[in-house]
Amino acid sequence: MLKKSVEDALNKQFNAEMYSSYLYLAMSAYFETIPMRGFARWMRIQAKEELGHAMKFYDYIIEQQGSVKCAAIEAPKTPWKSAGAVFDQVYAHEQKVTGLINSLMDLGIKEKDYATQNFLGWFVKEQVEEEANASEIVAQIKMLEDRPGHLFHLDEKLGKRE
Ligand SMILES: [Fe+2]
Ligand SMILES: [Fe+2]
Repeated sequence: MLKKSVEDALNKQFNAEMYSSYLYLAMSAYFETIPMRGFARWMRIQAKEELGHAMKFYDYIIEQQGSVKCAAIEAPKTPWKSAGAVFDQVYAHEQKVTGLINSLMDLGIKEKDYATQNFLGWFVKEQVEEEANASEIVAQIKMLEDRPGHLFHLDEKLGKRE
């Protein structure tokens, strides 16, 4: 059983993860138009992963006998200026999501909701990975900035993501 404050906050995070998925799908569509198919593939897989995050919240709310609220999902602002601009935003976005997860954890602690704290542990770990992945790609793009042709090697590499 969830306290109302926790249920509301979990529903908000469900929506935030849906937005992440939508944002990365919009980024994937942008890369398809450039076209940089490798980046597009990486982003499409990332969008799917974010949908998986949203579904973890969805399932947890239901398992705790709460009710899932499907609120409107914000539209991502498109298009972007470059591959670098896209990944700068991904990194900033993931840092923001880490903040959201931490705030949720703060609430779980405040409400003495041990099950929710335990559930959120997975996301605390996942955000370390998400920030590391994004910052690595940001750094790689920065190194190639003055040699645009070389970006295609990175495109090819990221396109191998399974
Ligand atoms: Fe996520
Ligand atoms: Fe991940």
